[in-house]
Amino acid sequence: MKKLIIINGPNLNLLGKREPNIYGSLSFIEFLEEVKRKYTDIEIDYFQSNIEGEIIDKLHEVGFNFDGIILNAAAYTHTSVGIGDAVKAIETPVVEVHISNTFNREEFRHQSFISPNAKGVILGFGLQSYELAIQSF
Ligand code: DQA
Repeated sequence: MKKLIIINGPNLNLLGKREPNIYGSLSFIEFLEEVKRKYTDIEIDYFQSNIEGEIIDKLHEVGFNFDGIILNAAAYTHTSVGIGDAVKAIETPVVEVHISNTFNREEFRHQSFISPNAKGVILGFGLQSYELAIQSF
């Protein structure tokens, strides 16, 4: 059985409540339950943290024994050399995802420290970005 993990960064624990015009009104837990029901042949783990170092620790922990990582580093995407370096250091392929199309938002969201070392990038499809990432593995 394929083993994937979704790693969500800061503020994504507030999905459903946070800026619903951009991020939608479904909580991530509700969405995840739906996805798990749909993809019963894939093991899908989930980790969310608002703390940069915890995200790096999780990448190290899963980065040599999982089949794939789906990473939405949220705001850290645009700032974290440390998370970018962790993505480079591990063996498991990482697909970078974003709910919103970061390229039609503020300029500071156009930069990503994840993309150069990601297997691919999926953005702008709402929560469906995660599902497309699952299908890519
Ligand atoms: C985000 C986009 C980021 O710019 C932002 O900081 C987020 C969410 C997205 O999924 O659209 O928190 O990663």
